[in-house]
Amino acid sequence: MKNDLQKILLNENDIRKRIQELGLEIDRHYEGREILLVTLLDGAIVFAADLIRNLSSPLRLDCLRVSSYGNSTDPETAPRILSSLKSEVEGKDVLLVDDILDTGNTMQRVSEEVLSKNPASLKTCVFLDKPDRRQNHFRATWSGFFIPDEFVVGYGLDYAGQYRQLPYVGTLKPSIYEK
Ligand code: PRP
Repeated sequence: MKNDLQKILLNENDIRKRIQELGLEIDRHYEGREILLVTLLDGAIVFAADLIRNLSSPLRLDCLRVSSYGNSTDPETAPRILSSLKSEVEGKDVLLVDDILDTGNTMQRVSEEVLSKNPASLKTCVFLDKPDRRQNHFRATWSGFFIPDEFVVGYGLDYAGQYRQLPYVGTLKPSIYEK
């Protein structure tokens, strides 16, 4: 699997150090208030698992499944929320966690949905952020790494469902996706 990579962008040490920093920043923000931490499936499970172990704030976990939709902004194919939260959102401090902020359409859609339920606050934390790809004005509250517009895999991110378990982030050799 490692042989399929062209280069490693973020190694395990880079990732570990940055998540420690994020944990401190997030804890500082919430000042001991309980977080309702909502992970967007599937890609964010790896990041969320490491992030929560770097948080001291009390927290509860929930998850959301959002439809995959390619890059279209067509309302017919815009991101759709396929599951509902098990938790009551009203009055809670909600933190949405995702693996990558690309066009921003997924986070925008999910944020609108959560805000419609009257949380006390809504913040967002993404592992990777590709600002060049944004199709709206969405900005994450916390971004792990800003990266250029390159297709990356690993640490939760997939190509055709594969490579999610790699503990680092890298780009694929063109021969893999030109097959
Ligand atoms: C990916 C990623 C984000 C979304 C970001 O999800 O996990 O949720 O795309 O893209 P956007 O900013 O352009 O909306 P994907 O649909 O590939 O599903 P996955 O999490 O199962 O990999």
